[in-house]
Amino acid sequence: MNKNNTLSVRTKLVVNVTLVHFVLMSIFIVDVYQRQKVFLSTEAESSTVNFSRLIAENMSSWLLSEDIMGMDEVLRASVKDFTATYAAVVETDGRVLVHSNPSQQGRYITGPDALVLLRGKKQAHIWRKDPTSIHAAAPVIIENRHLGWVLLGTDMNRVSTQLQTLRNQGIAYTVLAMIIGGLAAWLLASSIFRQIHRIMEGVARLRSNQLTSHIPIIANDEIGHIASALNGAMDSLQSSRNELQREIREHLKAEERIHHLTRNIMMGNEEERRRIGHDLHDEFGQSVAGFVFGLHTMKDLIVKDRDGASELCAKLAECAERLGEDIRRVAAHQYPVALEHLGLPLMIKAFLQEHGQQHANLTFTSKITTLEKRLAPYIELTAFRILQEAMSNIIRHSEATEVSVTLAVMHEWIFLCIKDNGKGFRQQTEYDLPRGDVTGIGLLGMAERASSVEGYLEVTSAPNQGCTVDVFLPLLFVTEKRIQGERHG
Ligand SMILES: Nc1ncnc2c1ncn2[C@@H]1O[C@H](COP(=O)(O)OP(=O)(O)OP(=O)(O)O)[C@@H](O)[C@H]1O
Ligand SMILES: [Mg+2]
Repeated sequence: MNKNNTLSVRTKLVVNVTLVHFVLMSIFIVDVYQRQKVFLSTEAESSTVNFSRLIAENMSSWLLSEDIMGMDEVLRASVKDFTATYAAVVETDGRVLVHSNPSQQGRYITGPDALVLLRGKKQAHIWRKDPTSIHAAAPVIIENRHLGWVLLGTDMNRVSTQLQTLRNQGIAYTVLAMIIGGLAAWLLASSIFRQIHRIMEGVARLRSNQLTSHIPIIANDEIGHIASALNGAMDSLQSSRNELQREIREHLKAEERIHHLTRNIMMGNEEERRRIGHDLHDEFGQSVAGFVFGLHTMKDLIVKDRDGASELCAKLAECAERLGEDIRRVAAHQYPVALEHLGLPLMIKAFLQEHGQQHANLTFTSKITTLEKRLAPYIELTAFRILQEAMSNIIRHSEATEVSVTLAVMHEWIFLCIKDNGKGFRQQTEYDLPRGDVTGIGLLGMAERASSVEGYLEVTSAPNQGCTVDVFLPLLFVTEKRIQGERHG
């Protein structure tokens, strides 16, 4: 890994911003320094030249009268005023006439520069210059007569001092800019990292499956938007998880219901077998035994008493007829054969009539719609079984005085409603399926029957409010048997 990559983003940001400030400020300061240097040098040169010209103008009358004392005085004053390093009046042949430093008086200026000066053009100019000093020369001319030169020297130290100050200030400003830039970058990185830190904490919570606490949003910027997007993702994850948990719970409860139903169906089967056994024993055992006894008696009577035998024969025939009826009744309880012959509307009417005769304390009212065609057998059987169970509940639990039954067609449904005005019961709503005593399977069985043919059932009850069972089954006629066969086959 590149070593630079081990640095934190905050350090990289601070270092880079500081470097950028350093580079930009250095370029700026160097540029200003160079310009200032040129400006100060030019200004020093032009002021030296101008001052030398001024002295030359003042000097002309003194030079004409060859008043050395006067010239010396003017030179000293000039040197003092202009803070020049020296001033001198030189004759056209290069001999120093007067000098602010008296030891130079009477000497000749020498060197290549001196020759250039003495033979060059007669106007004020810089005749010599080096890094530490400037030397200006101005001709003393009276009535077109060139009498000599005024030489003036100035020190460049002042300019260097100014430039030195400028450079020091530039360095100070650069350092200041670097500190301010670095600090600003550090503060910026801190504010960014505060939000990033919160996001990291949120991601850690996400990994440990804690989806309920949101990431705090510190600023409404791009990183804040990332945090709020993560919060949204956590919310939808949480709601999917809730949905999943709800589905699992429902699934488990449905499974529990199925187990309960299966257990009760098995117990119901045993009970049914026991009941059939009892029925066979109670209903037919005695009758068949009596019948057999009668036949044995008749065997003796046929020989001794033909009239008595004929009477017994009539009784045995009656007994056989009753036995046949009993067998039909028991068989009808097992499967309502009459439903096949009558169809659902008539079967319901017959069922209510039979119950009306058996239960004098109950008033039955009904509104049964006659159907044009026969319903599919499995729809008829489902509706009838539900009616049987609802009626059995009314008789066993409701203490009702009135029962009403409705059969109607509603859109694509066949609608059956069984309503009583009895004591009702408190519902424990669970997946919209009302349940009463959890030990019974009647209500559950009704619902299961309805849903097994893709219908549904609603039970509505409350204490002292009676009970209503609404059943909706698909309106499928007998001609649609094949469709039904496909659907359930
Ligand atoms: N019409 C009704 N009026 C009053 N209470 C009712 C009525 N129908 C059902 N219940 C109450 O709801 C309970 C559950 O009924 P459900 O048919 O499921 O079971 P059950 O009748 O007790 O037993 P099972 O039907 O398995 O023989 C009943 O025990 C009863 O308390
Ligand atoms: Mg019941």
